[in-house]
Amino acid sequence: MSTLLVDNIGELVTNGIGADLLGIRRTAAVLVEEGQVAWVGPSAYAPAADRRIDVGGAAVLPGFVDSHAHLVFAGDRAAEFAARMAGEPYTGGGIRTTVGATRAATDGELRANVRRLRGEALRQGTTTMEIKSGYGLSVADEARSLRIAAESSSETTFLGAHVVPAEYADRPDDYVGLVCGPMLAAAAPHAKWIDVFCERGAFDVDHARAILACGQAVGLGVRLHANQLGPGPGVRLGVELGAASVDHCTYLSDADVDALAHSTTVATLLPGAEFSTRSPYPDARRLLDAGVTVALATDCNPGSSYTSSMPFCIALAVREMRMTPAEAVWAATAGGARALRRDDVGVLTPGARADLVVLDAPSYLHLAYRPGVPLIRQVIRNGVPQ
Ligand code: NIG
Ligand code: FE
Repeated sequence: MSTLLVDNIGELVTNGIGADLLGIRRTAAVLVEEGQVAWVGPSAYAPAADRRIDVGGAAVLPGFVDSHAHLVFAGDRAAEFAARMAGEPYTGGGIRTTVGATRAATDGELRANVRRLRGEALRQGTTTMEIKSGYGLSVADEARSLRIAAESSSETTFLGAHVVPAEYADRPDDYVGLVCGPMLAAAAPHAKWIDVFCERGAFDVDHARAILACGQAVGLGVRLHANQLGPGPGVRLGVELGAASVDHCTYLSDADVDALAHSTTVATLLPGAEFSTRSPYPDARRLLDAGVTVALATDCNPGSSYTSSMPFCIALAVREMRMTPAEAVWAATAGGARALRRDDVGVLTPGARADLVVLDAPSYLHLAYRPGVPLIRQVIRNGVPQ
């Protein structure tokens, strides 16, 4: 049984040891054994280990937990982005463009795209990443999307209800029947979660409730895209169904905030989407002040947010959403873990998975203070230096 000591850590974010939000330890060391954190304490008392990495006073934090990403797709929509930057609004209508490209792609092409984006995210410190389907929208294409997603993550989400595909445009009820019937049956063996895009132009609250209930009945956990493009009942539906997370939360009423504050549902904010659609950012301060648990995620997808960078989302959350750097780093690590109902990631306490990020910086503050700079010096995942 070999051991690894990560030593001489100037600032260690544990998200659990001590009273401050980030559980910061200084001049610390972490002992890793069998892929798990075995011990955390002062460098001066560090136990002997088979291997030692001296990080030279750098900051170390838990690997980022990106709880919302759409990686199984083909093609890109750079022209749609350019049109938005010239004044066009984002409507979600471009999803169908990606559905066409995804259906036409081979398994090998889809797999290569997932691996490319998963690798990109890992190099930027993401050690846990949820992956959704949702650009197949047929029984066979949703099932293969999830099969391919499951090769890269255990956090896979069935999003057959992303939009109604063109061939069902005039009979959405039939599409909901397909999603709840044969599509769910083919998808469920490869999925842990079910998700619906509950929004004007996508699925209304009755369809969303029906689809999520079918998913729950076969053992899938609930998450929901809600209140992204305008106010609506999605967030309250998520709370009613005990969703692990409602995602986007850009347009919230006081009743939505209150419902979240009295629930176990996490509000996952996706500032990359507001950046890339030039939309108003969600009011993170209002949620935090009301006592809501907030997570940050990338929403990596070719339409509304083509970034795999959690550090970029942290910087946006601090600058544009009035989160403190500590709140943003917590939301990108422990918050993401809560959104996936995981207690083994997002923290660096004994028993947790040994997912560590070493920064090229003395403090986590630099993640927001030095935006756009490649600060991730080393990533250790499951105890293994990458
Ligand atoms: O989370 N909102 C729905 N789905 C994605 C956008 C997908 C797309 O535009 O391709 C999102 O923003
Ligand atoms: Fe999304």
